[in-house]
Amino acid sequence: MENRATDTTPALEVRGLYAAYGQEPVLENISLSLTQGQWTAIVGPNGGGKSSLLSVVIGSLAPLRGELRILGRPSLAQRQAGSIAYMAQQERMEWDFPISVSDTVMTGRFGLMRHDPLWRRLLPQRWAAPIHRQAVEEALDAVDMTDMAARPIGELSGGQKKRVMLARALAQRAPILLLDEPLAGVDPPSEALIMATLERQRRAGRTIIMVTHDLSGARRYADQVLLINRTMFGMGTPETMLSDSMLARLATGSPPAPSGGFHAAA
Ligand SMILES: Nc1ncnc2c1ncn2[C@@H]1O[C@H](COP(=O)(O)OP(=O)(O)OP(=O)(O)O)[C@@H](O)[C@H]1O
Ligand SMILES: [Mg+2]
Repeated sequence: MENRATDTTPALEVRGLYAAYGQEPVLENISLSLTQGQWTAIVGPNGGGKSSLLSVVIGSLAPLRGELRILGRPSLAQRQAGSIAYMAQQERMEWDFPISVSDTVMTGRFGLMRHDPLWRRLLPQRWAAPIHRQAVEEALDAVDMTDMAARPIGELSGGQKKRVMLARALAQRAPILLLDEPLAGVDPPSEALIMATLERQRRAGRTIIMVTHDLSGARRYADQVLLINRTMFGMGTPETMLSDSMLARLATGSPPAPSGGFHAAA
């Protein structure tokens, strides 16, 4: 995979991060380091700052303080290099726009098309270079949406749209996948399919950072769990982090003492 500094460079490194919307603090003193190739589940209550943390990672919310590096470089540089694929919790998409499922997934390749020759970029999408078409086909197949490739996106159910947006992220073939609640609104069979797809991605060496409310999925698939509710409540194995006592503490919003034995912010 391109853009890897070395295999030991952390996929994501955050130090002393604070962020706010206006006067309202949303993240306080977040510090963590994620190894490449691992699956991290981010768990916390509604309004706990999970999506905001991803916004900081992709560079759309500027931190007040702190440092953040992706594969050893600033997030903007890594976004431009195609190292991060991001799937938002809510797409700011115009679903009435007459665009097909496969063209929607192809938009995930747009950043990478910069490297194509100009004549190619001027052609309609269906004549995109084979590498782009192949990535789109594979991604649609991965979420079992091949049969719907030609359908207008606006005609799909909420869960089907979600699968298409995941395909759009997968089509980027980025080494790091940032997924904000990819299972929200999907039915149990699609949920199983998505988790199996992500497991394959992880086995292929990709780093998965996924916000989720699905604790059983996190227990089963994640290598580690990050608990946040404005500040960090812990980071560790799913078994330790998703214990009843940790989850109760997370829900009450009283963070652990820094010396409490958790991997809290240093
Ligand atoms: N664009 C914004 N402008 C102002 N406040 C915001 C904005 N986005 C989020 N917030 C506030 O920041 C806090 C954290 O929101 P965030 O969306 O990060 O939480 P979350 O953990 O992702 O919650 P959920 O589980 O509901 O998705 C909330 O209090 C929210 O109201
Ligand atoms: Mg959210």
